[in-house]
Amino acid sequence: MTDAITARGLVKRYKDVTALDGVDLTVPEGSVLGLLGPNGAGKTTIVRILATLLPADAGTAHVAGVDVFAKPREVRRRIGLSGQYAAVDEYLTGYENLEMIGRLYHLGVRRSRERARELLASFRLEDAADRPSRTYSGGMRRRLDLAGALVADPPVIFLDEPTTGLDPRGRADMWEVIQGLVAGGTTLLLTTQYLEEADLLADEIVVIDHGRIIAQGTADQLKLQVGGERLDLTVRDPARLEDARAALEPLGVGRATLDAGRRSLLMPVDGGARTLTEALRTLDAAGIVVDDVGLRRPTLDDVFLALTGRPAEDEPEPDRPPDDGAGPVRADHGRHAVEGGV
Ligand SMILES: Nc1ncnc2c1ncn2[C@@H]1O[C@H](COP(=O)(O)OP(=O)(O)O)[C@@H](O)[C@H]1O
Ligand SMILES: [Mg+2]
Repeated sequence: MTDAITARGLVKRYKDVTALDGVDLTVPEGSVLGLLGPNGAGKTTIVRILATLLPADAGTAHVAGVDVFAKPREVRRRIGLSGQYAAVDEYLTGYENLEMIGRLYHLGVRRSRERARELLASFRLEDAADRPSRTYSGGMRRRLDLAGALVADPPVIFLDEPTTGLDPRGRADMWEVIQGLVAGGTTLLLTTQYLEEADLLADEIVVIDHGRIIAQGTADQLKLQVGGERLDLTVRDPARLEDARAALEPLGVGRATLDAGRRSLLMPVDGGARTLTEALRTLDAAGIVVDDVGLRRPTLDDVFLALTGRPAEDEPEPDRPPDDGAGPVRADHGRHAVEGGV
């Protein structure tokens, strides 16, 4: 298998800020790399360098077999870029936007129109095709922007935080669209602040912090480091806790931990909502009454906590109160950190 993207020793400085401090990346053809990190980590800088929009201070990079720094024009012909740039013209309809891009890429009138219709259909924008895109929801605009990046059918796509700022529905729609893309064999480099998103979409995840790679692996490997997703439930009758354990353990991926005082059971699982539903059905069939139940996923904060011993930092916020009352570990993650040692 050949590599669609390789970068070695990328360094980028802005005056006294070192945005990238020696980044190495490899993305095999047809795979998805999730670049995961908080605000200011250097994600956009990496994307902009690989997409030929920004020079690096040191390092080498190849995209689709072409040297990024030596032959930027050739690289540009082989990539699509979408995300925080929003290349959508608000006054044109969705259809006109895509058709125009086709013409810019010299696809010809007929093929440009055909391609615009194709993409509008596969991105579920058919009904809105002939409305000015300023009337679109945030999620629809992002999908149109992504469709624009795909007009010329590039083998390599960069998606910079494709779902940041979208509501859960918009996010879910975008994920579906991206999954379709991935199924088609496109090589994707995706940046995100959401572990959940990287988990869902990426084959391999690179965690970046202050311009350096701090962890790398599959979502499962990273989750092993942070303790994974957990089913957390409380039963009405503490005398039934052992029964609950016996009934539920076959659905999980590890031993359940019982807390008789809290009448609760905690168990690592990997089936998401499906496991939750199965668990409730199983307990119902066993006549065990459940008072409270939930699934908790590790977040980027959990990953950072596990890897660096501190939560993910955003860009400095000047007006932030000196102490939010929970110390360095946020209140809603405190319990998780404790459970990590269970
Ligand atoms: N044009 C710029 N001038 C100065 N500093 C910049 C510039 N662009 C980015 N930075 C800094 O470089 C670092 C990485 O930024 P960026 O790549 O945008 O991070 P991310 O996309 O992960 O949020 C940050 O500290 C940011 O403030
Ligand atoms: Mg960014």
